[in-house]
Amino acid sequence: MSGTWNSPDKFNHEASKWDENPRRKALTFAVSKAIIAAVKPAETMCALEFGCGTGLVTLEIAPLVKRLSAVDTSTEMLAVLNEKIRALRVANIETRCIDLLSSAGFGEHEQRFDLIYSSMTLHHIDDTAGFLNRLSTLLCSGGIMALADLDLEDGSFHDDPQEKVHHGFDRVELSALLHAEGLQVISFETIYTIEKINGSGKTVAYPVFLVIAIKATV
Ligand SMILES: C[S@@+](CC[C@H](N)C(=O)[O-])C[C@H]1O[C@@H](n2cnc3c(N)ncnc32)[C@H](O)[C@@H]1O
Repeated sequence: MSGTWNSPDKFNHEASKWDENPRRKALTFAVSKAIIAAVKPAETMCALEFGCGTGLVTLEIAPLVKRLSAVDTSTEMLAVLNEKIRALRVANIETRCIDLLSSAGFGEHEQRFDLIYSSMTLHHIDDTAGFLNRLSTLLCSGGIMALADLDLEDGSFHDDPQEKVHHGFDRVELSALLHAEGLQVISFETIYTIEKINGSGKTVAYPVFLVIAIKATV
């Protein structure tokens, strides 16, 4: 399991206890706050979150937009979110268990989004350039991409050293990848710092960025 990219097993296993981690809640609160401040979501917008997990960010953004598609590859993470949607009677979130890179993802003729965002998911996706290309095709002209993730780290962030993940992102390289997909980077800022005791028992600070990019109008 740990040696495979995009394996839903790990997240299926962690789903029921995901929200119990206070560090996670603090991080997703900071991400939601930063996305709301930077993007100013509006009630005319259709939004997409990829890697929505249990919806810690989705449930903050949904009240501010018209419709939100919450996508994840883990059925169990989505089951937790679906239960929250039911309990809170939220009417504008649609959940989908798909990998956006696969042909079973959003079809060519399906809607385009005004806002696509994610929190701590991009580093779990092997082909960053290919994935950004796919996201760009799903974004409206003038649409906004907001990605929160780890800055480059030394590989100690994830407890399992075998887990297939990117060890954060270099800001210059990620900006170049976004630019190559016709997205203009508007801002790149540190929005939170995760403090975590790593495998060697040392407390390490892992900065989290939010990059905002806009798809050129055609
Ligand atoms: C670190 S968790 C973050 C969850 C949530 N965004 C949060 O901040 O609490 C990463 C999430 O991305 C999902 N994921 C991993 N690869 C994915 C892919 N290719 N497409 C969609 N979701 C994916 C996982 O199932 C997991 O729910």
